[in-house]
Amino acid sequence: MSVHKSDVKKITTHQLQNMKDRGEKISMLTAYDYSMATILDAAGVDVLLVGDSASNVMAGHETTLPITLDQMIYHASSVVRGVNRAFVVVDLPFGSYQGNSSEAIRSAIRIMKESGAHGVKLEGGAEIKESVTRILSAGVPVMGHLGLTPQSIYKFGTYTVRAKEEAEAQKLLDDAQLLQELGCFAIVLEKIPSDLAKQVAEKLHIPIIGIGAGPHVDGQVLVVHDMLGINKEFKPRFLRRYADLHSVMTDAVTNYVKDVKSQDFPNDKEAY
Ligand code: KIV
Repeated sequence: MSVHKSDVKKITTHQLQNMKDRGEKISMLTAYDYSMATILDAAGVDVLLVGDSASNVMAGHETTLPITLDQMIYHASSVVRGVNRAFVVVDLPFGSYQGNSSEAIRSAIRIMKESGAHGVKLEGGAEIKESVTRILSAGVPVMGHLGLTPQSIYKFGTYTVRAKEEAEAQKLLDDAQLLQELGCFAIVLEKIPSDLAKQVAEKLHIPIIGIGAGPHVDGQVLVVHDMLGINKEFKPRFLRRYADLHSVMTDAVTNYVKDVKSQDFPNDKEAY
């Protein structure tokens, strides 16, 4: 017997597919903790991605490579506890699935069992075919990730736009087709030309979610710290800032420090 915590209609892979089929765009944002997840979920975000970008925005690393499976599970379980409606996808971190499909399935199962998330995301195409196949065979929904794949940053050498050349564009099209054939429920395309992303979204029947991939895809994803303006330095062309939380938070904390120093806080009403 299943136990239902609420009557809210939860987002499933089937609903995401229906959204593509009827032309409704899918909204996706990253989330790494409980409090943020409750806000994003209540605001109606369809998919929350527990991205390995936690390595950058939560832990302050330069790349996504250092974050561990245990750390991803910690972030993912915090997010899942904050969610009523959204579909929660978790990145398999660098080193937990490449080149070893047995390790890949063990990693995916740990994420699903220990965090309660709803699916996993893996970076790459043909080179991770075995891992994708084995994870899918365990009944775990898999989201692909092609284009700029940050776990391969030391191969690329730069975070610039990918697949501008014919050969790389063709490989991306082939990889996208392969991921769909294997059974992935959706694919993220990161930082590729808009026309190429459009071709993929038109050719494939599964949802294509873009980040820096233009408007002709089935949904958009951003890193939540970037779109809320918590992080000021990162200013790629594809990023739209919806708030300036860096200034809001700095002002609030500056005022708090001032009030503590001047003994304005706490006042009589704020004491017992
Ligand atoms: O880790 C992440 O935040 C991601 C998004 C950029 C898609 O993979």
